[in-house]
Amino acid sequence: MVGGVQLGVLAACVVLFVPMGMAGWHLSRNKMLFFSGALFITLAVGVHLTPYFPSIYDALSSLSSSVDRTSSRDSCISFLHDISFLHKSDNYSSVDYAWANSPPVLACDFQRLGRSDASDLLNGSWVVVAGDSQARLMALSLLSLVLDSDDMEVVKGDLFKRHSDYQIVMGQIGMKLDFIWAPYVANLTGLMTELKRNGNYPDVLVMGSGLWHMLHITNSSDYGVSLQLLRNLVVSLAPISPSLTGGSGSVSIRSPHFFWVGMPRLINSMLNTEEKRVKMSDAMLSAYDRELYQSKLLRQWGGGPLILLDVESLGRNCGTSCTVDGMHYDGIVYEAAVHVMLNALLIESHQKL
Ligand SMILES: *[C@@H]1O[C@H](CO)[C@@H](O)[C@H](O)[C@H]1NC(C)=O
Ligand SMILES: *[C@@H]1O[C@H](CO)[C@@H](O)[C@H](O)[C@H]1NC(C)=O
Ligand SMILES: *[C@@H]1O[C@H](CO)[C@@H](O)[C@H](O)[C@H]1NC(C)=O
Ligand SMILES: *[C@@H]1O[C@H](CO)[C@@H](O)[C@H](O)[C@H]1NC(C)=O
Repeated sequence: MVGGVQLGVLAACVVLFVPMGMAGWHLSRNKMLFFSGALFITLAVGVHLTPYFPSIYDALSSLSSSVDRTSSRDSCISFLHDISFLHKSDNYSSVDYAWANSPPVLACDFQRLGRSDASDLLNGSWVVVAGDSQARLMALSLLSLVLDSDDMEVVKGDLFKRHSDYQIVMGQIGMKLDFIWAPYVANLTGLMTELKRNGNYPDVLVMGSGLWHMLHITNSSDYGVSLQLLRNLVVSLAPISPSLTGGSGSVSIRSPHFFWVGMPRLINSMLNTEEKRVKMSDAMLSAYDRELYQSKLLRQWGGGPLILLDVESLGRNCGTSCTVDGMHYDGIVYEAAVHVMLNALLIESHQKL
């Protein structure tokens, strides 16, 4: 739409100034009027014929819209988590969420995708979710968006066999989802190495580990070292990572899109064992977050290759009533995180619904 206005102004300038320039070349007033009229008619006919020549029209509109979208793309990524949760006061178990009403958030036009939109977006894609119990909850949320409730009952049973991998192929939408149990970042690095060796990457790769490391190793700098290794490995796949190629329109829906499931907000007093309450302290959580920040793994923090799905801030916004064990949150929080991811995918692949 900016393109249209600019073209109009340009045309007006041509009609006005070209004949005036010619007048400078000692053309008579009549000749000048003639040129002016001829130019006006040519431009007017041109403008009205443009829509009938789709290639020109497409070229013009894609030019203007790519300018629009490239400039707004990164800023919309930073508003993705402006979500608030609405607790129905008369019913504790009923929570809903919505994006903020502020002008920049409204301008991004985030959407809650229904089953058919989500199926369209993910049609034909291979999604890998790898990590700990939080990643498992993300996989569950994503599946419940595209499957009906009968199928979900079966999936829940299989996906919650503890500490195992899981694969499902959804024939109707040609989508394949793999869940890979990867409690440590080292396991994620192993997965990346394997994908790289096979030269076969999923369209969407969602990763996240940290809680196991915090509980069983309890050493934030060691966590940081493992994040660095993972980052270096992901960056070594450079051609496919948009932020590493200058972020200019080189992304397609077929390229792998990387996401990181951040650690949840831990509510110490609610953690269900004494060992967890001691080791998973607020101070330890901030130390782990600091390592994540410093690793430059994330797009939001240092221009890294992965987009953060900030479960910590979503959990905080949902509140204490949204968790029973101070660590794993209600489905609604992961559902919101899945919608953050799907909207990021829409932005990254320049698609609109
Ligand atoms: C609270 O909401 C849930 C889900 O929306 C519903 O199943 C339940 O019946 C409601 N309970 C009351 C007391 O309204
Ligand atoms: C998925 O895409 C295929 C073609 O690639 C199409 O035939 C099918 O209808 C699509 N399914 C959905 C649910 O969009
Ligand atoms: C994950 O990595 C740890 C530490 O390197 C290793 O002991 C464990 O076997 C791995 N687990 C899986 C499921 O690969
Ligand atoms: C924590 O991890 C770092 C890096 O792996 C290691 O150098 C350090 O000795 C560890 N600290 C403790 C207390 O184990």
